[in-house]
Amino acid sequence: MTTPNLDFLKAQLVELRAQIEAHNYRYYVLAEPQVPDAEYDRLMNSLKKIEHDYPDLVSPDSPTQRVGAAPLKEFAEVEHRLAMLSLDNAFSDEDVEAFDRRIHDRLEMDEPLTYACEPKFDGLAISVTYVNGVLTCGATRGDGLRGEDVTLNLRTVKSVPLRLLGDQVPELIEVRGEVYLPIAGFEQMNAAALAQNEKLFVNPRNAAAGSLRQLDPRVTATRPLEAYFYQIGVLEGAAMPATHAKSLELLRKLGLRTCPESQCVQGVGGLLQYYRQLGAKRSQLPYQIDGVVYKVNDRALQDRLGFVSRAPRFAIAHKFPAEEELTVVNSVEWQVGRTGALTPVARLKPVFVGGVTVSNATLHNFDELSRKDVRVGDTVIIRRAGDVIPEVVSVILDRRPLNSPVEGLPRQCPVCGSAVVREEGEVVARCSGGLHCLAQRKESLRHFASRRAMDIEGLGPKIIDQLVDAGLVRTAADLYRLDVEKISSLERMGEKSAENLFQSISKSRETTLPKFLHALGIPNVGEATALSLAMHFRQLHALQAASVEEILKVPDVGPVIAQSIHAFFADHENKQIVQALCDLGLSFAVIDEPIAQEGGLAGKTFVITGTLEGMSRDEAADLIRKAGGKVSGSVSKKTDYLLVGSDAGSKLAQAEKLGVPVLSLDGFRGLFDSAV
Ligand code: IVH
Repeated sequence: MTTPNLDFLKAQLVELRAQIEAHNYRYYVLAEPQVPDAEYDRLMNSLKKIEHDYPDLVSPDSPTQRVGAAPLKEFAEVEHRLAMLSLDNAFSDEDVEAFDRRIHDRLEMDEPLTYACEPKFDGLAISVTYVNGVLTCGATRGDGLRGEDVTLNLRTVKSVPLRLLGDQVPELIEVRGEVYLPIAGFEQMNAAALAQNEKLFVNPRNAAAGSLRQLDPRVTATRPLEAYFYQIGVLEGAAMPATHAKSLELLRKLGLRTCPESQCVQGVGGLLQYYRQLGAKRSQLPYQIDGVVYKVNDRALQDRLGFVSRAPRFAIAHKFPAEEELTVVNSVEWQVGRTGALTPVARLKPVFVGGVTVSNATLHNFDELSRKDVRVGDTVIIRRAGDVIPEVVSVILDRRPLNSPVEGLPRQCPVCGSAVVREEGEVVARCSGGLHCLAQRKESLRHFASRRAMDIEGLGPKIIDQLVDAGLVRTAADLYRLDVEKISSLERMGEKSAENLFQSISKSRETTLPKFLHALGIPNVGEATALSLAMHFRQLHALQAASVEEILKVPDVGPVIAQSIHAFFADHENKQIVQALCDLGLSFAVIDEPIAQEGGLAGKTFVITGTLEGMSRDEAADLIRKAGGKVSGSVSKKTDYLLVGSDAGSKLAQAEKLGVPVLSLDGFRGLFDSAV
């Protein structure tokens, strides 16, 4: 082997590292990757190869050095160059008004002030120091004066640059920010922990803390931590920017990731508007926040305002209502769903959480109940984030009453008394009563009447309960046997309402095959499968007569679904109900073939997110499917387009990160019109 020229190799290393750092910056900081992953991997592999062959040429700021160093015995202590302060809190509009008034009084100013607003990230405060552009120290906040040296761990976080960008890096810059785990990363970590039978993390903040304060940096390197920077602590060899907004600009220019939600507003009205806008967006953000932070934008004014004890006078944190609270479990009850699935529900002492009063929380299934070991009398953490249904996070074991019995799976259905069965390998336990079970009957009817199925206006859960309890309706077919007189015999049902309900039931006879198939509630058949089945078989009788093999030919239908469809149509009672429905005059409009297999949206996968102006997401999904496209729930490399409306959140960020084309509704209409 000829020895390559060392200078040449060094130059090649510098070039490779610079290219990789530039891609890292575009990917992790700007979320705008420029090259496919394969190209990035190729560069990284070339670099690794050279460094492997010439270990002397490895430098600590090389992008290969993020993988995690050897474990530490303990963290060293770091004294902060400038104390890391805390923030005062505001919990109401009045608190914010008082904050603004105090500032005006102190500054003896009348005109509205410019404030910089940003999320209050629910992670861990960090301080990072760069000397001549190279990361030299990363520390936790600790007590504000001294923190722990977590440099080796922070080096594994991809959005913490090892080297600053640009040729005008300051001699020394100490920057504050927050390390956090994105919600998706947290879920991924907990899924992995669950699979390994390890203890789960309670929330993303705890998981981030556990990951950052790891003595073994190789463990930290496996955790998908991210960082946002929001404050300059110390700056030497460059002028401190005149405003907070300009500080953020400088950070961005140096390659330090800043939050795109940061914004300047005028006066207290602007603050409250920002608070409400971000509050509305909160549940869609890919990371957790617990409020917003307001900072006087002008640095000279900040300096004039100064500090009280441990907090600046120029800034305040306006907190959102807590998403987690403590309460007590009064009882555990079992609900029976449409397919007989038993769901344990915790009845709670009412508690105000996430902006509403919560008195029930789902425990999902028996495994989840056992894993969390929730018992009557337990004090539990309840979480309600955004519009997500409230759930029990965990039990506070220290507060468990003595001798509380473990909750078992009931042997009999609490509604009909039939045996409860749990198939081998199945998570779900079910009531075996079928349509004999009142609960299953009611839930099936609810599903049948729902908007995305037969769309029977006015036939809500309460009326279904009444109809079933009065013995007027047993199966879906019975709905079409009702007359105005029977309907008006229900309690609190006026003549007019009875007439309206009768009309809307009659009207629902004219439907489409996909809606009808969806309405039947065949186990494992949702809306999308119902549409595929209808498109494939075109006629109900063709599907009814189909063998499992024939059903398997339908796109996206696998053996489990095919089996379940076949079994449904082979069942004696189901046959009778379907026949009765047809005899009672149900008719199906023929649905179109997928428009143009070739030129249409065939083979294209869409994800829809946010609120579309003038079109529901369901309608957009229908259009896509009719044109031969697919609709998926999550953005991946396989997604062809993301259709976005207003208030889009994590899916948009993910699409941008992966370079998936993003369409507005107008763009979508254009694409759709040209495709069909
Ligand atoms: S600024 C001088 N901005 O809140 C101002 N802090 O109570 C110092 N935090 O420990 C802090 N998001 O971890 C600031 N956008 C943000 C923040 C933020 C979260 C945390 C930070 C600090 C605590 C202060």
